[in-house]
Amino acid sequence: MQPCLLTLRLVSRFIRCSRWCAVRRDDQYSRRWSSSGSDKQLSQGIESVASYIKQQASNILVMVGAGMSTPSGIPDFRSPGTGLYDNLQKYDLPYPEAIFDIHYFMMDPRPFFTLAQDLYPGVNYKPNIAHHFLRLLHEEGKLQMVYTQNIDGLERLAGIPEEKLVEAHGSFATASCTLCGRRHDAGRVKKAVVEGDVPVMCEAAKCKGKVKPDIVFFGENLPSVFWDYHLQVPFTDLLLVMGTSLEVYPFAKIADEVGRKTPRVLINLSAVGSFGSRDNDTVLGGDLVQTVEELTKALGWEEKLRALEKNYSLQSGNEE
Ligand code: APR
Repeated sequence: MQPCLLTLRLVSRFIRCSRWCAVRRDDQYSRRWSSSGSDKQLSQGIESVASYIKQQASNILVMVGAGMSTPSGIPDFRSPGTGLYDNLQKYDLPYPEAIFDIHYFMMDPRPFFTLAQDLYPGVNYKPNIAHHFLRLLHEEGKLQMVYTQNIDGLERLAGIPEEKLVEAHGSFATASCTLCGRRHDAGRVKKAVVEGDVPVMCEAAKCKGKVKPDIVFFGENLPSVFWDYHLQVPFTDLLLVMGTSLEVYPFAKIADEVGRKTPRVLINLSAVGSFGSRDNDTVLGGDLVQTVEELTKALGWEEKLRALEKNYSLQSGNEE
């Protein structure tokens, strides 16, 4: 056999082997970190996370994604079948993310505004136990910051204070012209969108821009406050990641920026991102609500959490 053919054979066998080794390594990680291990591993996971939160953590940085709001009835983006990106056929988009693409919006804002009608905060959805749990971390003086990718505003509605919340992908709380940047009354924009009276055109005399809520579209910059995470992570003593695929950058980058000595905990259906690559990673796999309930119980905070939930429903009930 000519040497070059032999080399090719050897190289391809090496690649197959390394891919196989990579799978095995993942397999080791998934065996080691996921909840698919024995119950003891899961309860041990939750017990050790709870005692760390109680005894050692006082600067918990939380990263939140759409999986946090699925229990509130809002679909996430990428869950097969139920995720938003699997259910946009009626908009006839060139690709799913176009609904949040600024160039596509300039060309045809209708898909986004149709979706926004349903998503506007405080119209159809309310916070769930996981949002109230984050509020409780704040009440207990343990919350450093919540970085959320969600635009549903449920963290605000749950009472997480402004100074502890970074809405990295924007929110519906304000609205601006996409051409001149002029701020517009968010209430007026909300009314127009909910009533389908869109697009809202810029009030500035010569501007022909369309107004949209200050949601960060693909192709737009994240709010400058997002980058403050660089100043925070050196002081973070626990990273808690909840309900996200960690697929979208630069947001997902935070998870790898916390110090190597900072424990990282993922509460998600399955392991994502680089979770499992560090010895002090913990993946609490499975349904987020169930995990938060078990974690609250292990912390002995059930009463406090129930009081927050009751307080929220009394307040929101009064407002309705
Ligand atoms: N319990 C636990 N995990 C859940 C649950 C649940 N009830 N529901 C969903 N998840 C998990 C999914 O398995 C998935 O890993 O939450 C994650 C949600 O991932 P995505 O749908 O990708 O949402 P997200 O990570 O927030 O997307 C990031 O993508 O399109 C952009 O701007 C959009 O902010 C969004 C960004």
